[in-house]
Amino acid sequence: MGICSTVSKALRRGKFFFLLILLLSLLAWIATFSGETVKSILAPFGTTETFVKGDKLREKLNVLLTEPDQVIAPTQSAECPQVSPLLKGAVGLSFEPSLKLKDLEIANKGVTEGEYEPSDCTARQSVAILIPHRNRERHLLYLLHHLHPFLQRQQLHYAIYVIQQAGDETFNRAKLLNIGYLEALKDYIWDCFIFHDVDLVPENDNNLYICDKQPKHLVVGRNSTGYRLRYKGYFGGVTAMTRDQFLQVNGFSNNYWGWGGEDDDLRVRVELQKMKILRPSADVARYTMVFHKRDSGNEINNKRMGLLSQTSHVWKKDGLNSCSYKTLSVERLPLYVNVTVDIGKPHI
Ligand code: BGC
Repeated sequence: MGICSTVSKALRRGKFFFLLILLLSLLAWIATFSGETVKSILAPFGTTETFVKGDKLREKLNVLLTEPDQVIAPTQSAECPQVSPLLKGAVGLSFEPSLKLKDLEIANKGVTEGEYEPSDCTARQSVAILIPHRNRERHLLYLLHHLHPFLQRQQLHYAIYVIQQAGDETFNRAKLLNIGYLEALKDYIWDCFIFHDVDLVPENDNNLYICDKQPKHLVVGRNSTGYRLRYKGYFGGVTAMTRDQFLQVNGFSNNYWGWGGEDDDLRVRVELQKMKILRPSADVARYTMVFHKRDSGNEINNKRMGLLSQTSHVWKKDGLNSCSYKTLSVERLPLYVNVTVDIGKPHI
């Protein structure tokens, strides 16, 4: 009897333990299963994904932090060659009456808001081309047509700014160029500025639109003058000055209203600073001038000789530091930045 009861007790306890183990296994299984279910339900909402991504990100960060030589630095391309391999020398110019701005935009896909830089090398200079303008749309079109590919073949980082004089007051080329300089510097610290008439188209790629140690005059000859320099001190049409050279002479005078004299005034300023004017060789510095009649609103300035005689006395007060104007709009068109300004009128 004693043995029997001990055996039956043990059996009851065994059953109890068996049931207990069974129950625990069941609970463990439910816990595992429910975990997977939660994960698979959350997956489409991103929670699980985020977790996995976070893990990967952490892994990546660890690699970056612990293995510095695996960090990929942004690649900077080498400086463009001293002489661009793209230069063609003398190029044939065309002036097609059917030419449209849209055609130029299609042909210059690499230009954004008037700005371009070579894709395979770092340009040696960043150059702002400043074109004073009013009512010369066709000339502007011809110039843009030739200038964009010309500058691209020179492998420059450049932007073209057209500075439009609003209203009918007498034209003031020099003041517009001062404004172009000031406005362009709001976009980028350009190294070099090209002051460019709208009706002069360069004929030779070797006439480089870059600045030098001294101011440069780029128009030695043009078709309309038999490709000869107009006179020894001629400094008009197209000139190149560095940011600092132009600042040093206090820019152009703001007081030349109408045609003539402002370029001679700039030459006097340059000479007062003991700078020398450089010119490329005559076979390279050649331009075609697009024919036009004298514009109304740009009559010959009869006061220009009188003003010129005062340059050495007034240049410090009349120039970039006294250039007042109102910017009416800055439109970033595909092929140029169009700056329209109210420049006031001549003081009587
Ligand atoms: C004027 C200049 C002009 C030059 C050539 C000079 O008499 O003063 O402004 O660029 O002639 O046409």
